[in-house]
Amino acid sequence: MNTKELKKKYIEFFKSKGHAEIHSAPLIPEHDPTVLFTTAGMHPLVPFLLGQPHPQGKRLVNVQKCIRTQDIDEVGDDTHTTCFEMLGNWSLGDYFKKDAISWSWEFLTSKEWLGLDKDRLAVTCFAGDKDAPKDEEAYKTWKSLGLSEGRIAFLQKADNWWGPAGETGPCGPDTEMFYWKLNDKPAPKKFDPADKNWVEIWNDVFMQYNKDKEGKYELLKSKNVDTGLGVERVTMVLNGKTNIFEIDVLEPLMKKTEEITGKKIHTDNAKSFRVIADHIKAATFILGDERGVVPSNVDQGYILRRYIRRCVRHLRLLGAELSNPDATSELAKVVIKMYEKDYPTLKAKKDIIFEELRKEQEKFQKTLDKGLKEFERMALDMTDIDGKSAFFLYQSYGFPIEMIEELASEKGRSVDRKGFDKEYMKHQELSRVGAEQKFKGGLSGASEVTTKLHTATHLLNEALRKVVSPDIKQKGSNITTERLRFDFNFDRKLTPEEVKKVEDEVNRLIKECIPVVKEEMSPEEAIKKGAQAEFGARYPAKVSVYSVGNYSREICMGPHVANTKDIGRFKILKEESSAAGIRRIKATVE
Ligand code: ALA
Repeated sequence: MNTKELKKKYIEFFKSKGHAEIHSAPLIPEHDPTVLFTTAGMHPLVPFLLGQPHPQGKRLVNVQKCIRTQDIDEVGDDTHTTCFEMLGNWSLGDYFKKDAISWSWEFLTSKEWLGLDKDRLAVTCFAGDKDAPKDEEAYKTWKSLGLSEGRIAFLQKADNWWGPAGETGPCGPDTEMFYWKLNDKPAPKKFDPADKNWVEIWNDVFMQYNKDKEGKYELLKSKNVDTGLGVERVTMVLNGKTNIFEIDVLEPLMKKTEEITGKKIHTDNAKSFRVIADHIKAATFILGDERGVVPSNVDQGYILRRYIRRCVRHLRLLGAELSNPDATSELAKVVIKMYEKDYPTLKAKKDIIFEELRKEQEKFQKTLDKGLKEFERMALDMTDIDGKSAFFLYQSYGFPIEMIEELASEKGRSVDRKGFDKEYMKHQELSRVGAEQKFKGGLSGASEVTTKLHTATHLLNEALRKVVSPDIKQKGSNITTERLRFDFNFDRKLTPEEVKKVEDEVNRLIKECIPVVKEEMSPEEAIKKGAQAEFGARYPAKVSVYSVGNYSREICMGPHVANTKDIGRFKILKEESSAAGIRRIKATVE
């Protein structure tokens, strides 16, 4: 069974259990300040997990494209990639543990569905601590399905607990399913979660608590289920493979890399092959996302740059002749071909993908060799790489700090990361970078601020059309707790008068205290009614449309403030160029 067949079966199975299919959300979250990328299917659903009704009901199922950079150091082993697809089913205050677990078991083991060997399955459940008791219900459900005592392990919060996404919010125990991957050695009767031959394939999270500001866990009235099943890992075990890089959506990249580098994969160079396959896939998906970004020194753009540069370095390690500026684009072509049907923006944006890859590869190639020489020299002179030297490599040769750490560790050295950070802060070149970007106020505080900014974004979108040009369309949007960022097509800088006029227009609407109204309808009807839609988005049969009086109307998941007066004062911080023909506004509310 290949990944396509698996995805189809999963959706079919959960539809037969009353679930509605929703599309994959973009990889770049629009207004979730707790993550840089969508790391699981639950992220785009946070407002609904917090109680907002979902237009498609209480049972949902989907395939979500994910980027999980926190696993980046694991790439190279048999089962980790940072770019993957996750299958998920959700109960929003509907079914709970018993059904969720029984359906997971049925889908995995029934001959009609995946037909995996029951004797090769094991699970973990939450062991209990001062905040929440041992998960007896999950345990009993597994037992009743026929799982033996030895195959159920109890673990603590670090392993068997999910959430909250910020410091407060919904969270709860989970139960994780593992499959014994070896074909020639029977699965041990006693399950040891630390044994890497047991591969985690599915996680059922039971959101039954709310963590409050004091750190207390209160039982939720409306309990949710959030599950995540890894497409690549399940495909791997279904095909009796022991590493994911041999499945249908990764092997073609390994082959292409062999072709480009003229090297065959063997134990010593496998890590480079795997890093290249994962990173080029991630870079292609980020560039080709509905809300795609380009390489830069901040936020998602920095992660993208890191992916491309590390990929180029590993191509070079394998001996690729990098005078070929198309090496990375050729790999991206393979990614696009495999996924263009499921993610049409990959095809629609293919020229941007190739152009950006070529530019970034060329830029890095110019400094890579010189930088590597400099690094070698430093490694001769010092035991560990000090902060100043690391910063020099970063600034002069464009080596991402994580790459410098990797180079050092290959020589058994370390890098003074604290010293690097100090230098870096001193130079104030970059704004905050990294997946750890978190908002101190917790998820509920964050959602208050971002909700205001979200409604302000709708007003700004329309104000630009009214005040500057009717041809303006939204080309991207991103919201953090500090600011909104809005990209739109326009071929010149706005004059200071125009900027002022747009700002005044938004503040006028705020002063008018206009109610924000949500309706549900078909996407066709919404567009007929003049609603703005997102480029490349695929909408379900029924969508939410948010209107601000008669002024603005957009297809959107929300959430929004109830009345424009709740926004506060709107202030444009900056108007700048984002890419050719695209302008960018950063604004905030006070
Ligand atoms: N959100 C859960 C996970 O990603 C299901 O493991």
